Amino acid sequence: MTGRCRALAKSELQNQDRHWSRHAAQYEDLFLDPYAPGVDNPLWAALDAVPDARHKTAADLGCGTGPLLPHLADRFGRVIAVDFAAGMIERARERLTPAASERVTFLNRPMHELHDLAGQVDVAVAVNSIVMPDLRLIDRTLHAIHASLRPGGRLLGIVPSIDGIAYHAMLLVDRALERGLTPKEAERLAAIQIERRYYDFAFGRFRFRGLHQKFWQPFEIEHRLAKAGFSTLSLAKVLYPWDDSLAGADELAEFPRSWDWFFQAS
Ligand SMILES: C[S@@+](CC[C@H](N)C(=O)[O-])C[C@H]1O[C@@H](n2cnc3c(N)ncnc32)[C@H](O)[C@@H]1O
Repeated sequence: MTGRCRALAKSELQNQDRHWSRHAAQYEDLFLDPYAPGVDNPLWAALDAVPDARHKTAADLGCGTGPLLPHLADRFGRVIAVDFAAGMIERARERLTPAASERVTFLNRPMHELHDLAGQVDVAVAVNSIVMPDLRLIDRTLHAIHASLRPGGRLLGIVPSIDGIAYHAMLLVDRALERGLTPKEAERLAAIQIERRYYDFAFGRFRFRGLHQKFWQPFEIEHRLAKAGFSTLSLAKVLYPWDDSLAGADELAEFPRSWDWFFQAS
């Protein structure tokens, strides 16, 4: 390691690389899919709006099983795919055609280690991957991403929203009250439906089978990106359809949809 990154203490990574690798095989069953049909995902339009992409470099940070890589390899001249979980990278490689593979370089490492890419990346993309449980590591990662960008480069990110979960819970409680449950019963039922036991709402945390993930409030996105040196930021919602990936969805179709947060920062 060089520059201002100090060696990463084991406690900061908290073995999350191993846990993510372990979840690589059944990843699609566990997480909401922002690329699924029916999802309004502003990332697509933001990628389409990048001019002259064939002559530019994109980085997919925390590429996971690589759902975005074929699209990036199709559009950009060079793609760098970073993930600290070897199991994820293995699955991501399998998605690529030989032609696409030629444009993609895989880096099996934590994404705060971007010193060798300083000033080289035109578009950094991080979809549901800036979720480290240690906030110091999130800050360090955002600094590293900022330093990896070329002048005029940008970060396109999606982060899981904790306010979206609270919104979903509110609707479920209301529905249960309308069906005649007492407030206590309604809250107990909604807590089961949103799997409240896995979340810490005050600190925006999610813990599930060894995975510890940060969930975000919009004000925290603004705060942490500004702290890392980004000076412009726009936020938008990734809107999920009320379908069977969300508990109680059949009763919620009339309400505005639940969301994760999309941001563009430069
Ligand atoms: C929820 S998955 C999302 C994967 C992919 N971006 C997608 O859209 O499907 C999060 C990914 O980020 C990776 N990840 C989490 N923290 C990381 C870190 N500090 N450095 C590198 N990769 C990380 C995990 O291994 C996992 O593959």
